[in-house]
Amino acid sequence: MLFDSHAHLNDRKLYGDLEGVLTRAAECGVTRILNCGADWPSSLMSVRLAEKYRGQIYAAVGVHPHDAKTLTDEMLQKLLQLAKAPEVVAFGEIGLDYYRDLSPRPLQQSAFIAQIAAAKLGKKPIIIHDRDAHGDILRLVRQERAGENGGVFHCFSGSWEMAKECLNLGFMISFAGPLTYTNAPKLREVAAKVPLDMMLIETDAPYLSPHPYRGKINEPARVCLTAAVLAEIRGLSIEETADFTVSNTCRLFNIKQ
Ligand code: NI
Repeated sequence: MLFDSHAHLNDRKLYGDLEGVLTRAAECGVTRILNCGADWPSSLMSVRLAEKYRGQIYAAVGVHPHDAKTLTDEMLQKLLQLAKAPEVVAFGEIGLDYYRDLSPRPLQQSAFIAQIAAAKLGKKPIIIHDRDAHGDILRLVRQERAGENGGVFHCFSGSWEMAKECLNLGFMISFAGPLTYTNAPKLREVAAKVPLDMMLIETDAPYLSPHPYRGKINEPARVCLTAAVLAEIRGLSIEETADFTVSNTCRLFNIKQ
């Protein structure tokens, strides 16, 4: 059994065939999926999906750095209300994206800080998106004591040096499709060194399809390809890898195993 700890099932690339996506996932042993919000509509949708597929889909709510410019005080209050639903297990994805810079950086930072505070109020872990913003992310996480309720650096893309800092700040590390790419020695080094009880796996579907589907639309079933590569890197069986990643996901997000 596998747990895809980060997906976007409400994305129109997946939503049109949601039943098919969930069936193919189940056929590969992917019995549970954490669906992440990226703005207000997708956060709301995420909770609706988790209500409909209780025990199979879980929800995170939050505003992605791309959409940081849309976050208002009123929306933040609405997110906090939404997060009271039992299906909501985290705030996410939140963070900084200096690669695409779709919202001005000061707004990305203030939205990140505001949502860290909301997660603390709601006593939820956070799911961090960090692209080309390692320095500022670590600075803000430290400054805001963002690890109070735990959290994860999703689709980790930093070095082992950075991973050590994230671990010291109380965060787990999550690996997505890029771990399977043949030109990712730095990422494989991180995956070889992170303690087994501090790592998760995810698809980030519909993005970041693992090898050999790179560039294609991703879906939760394919988290098994990332699990296989992680198993190989750690010299473990697929079953052992499934076991520890599921148990870490459940522990972080307070989900009954
Ligand atoms: Ni994502």
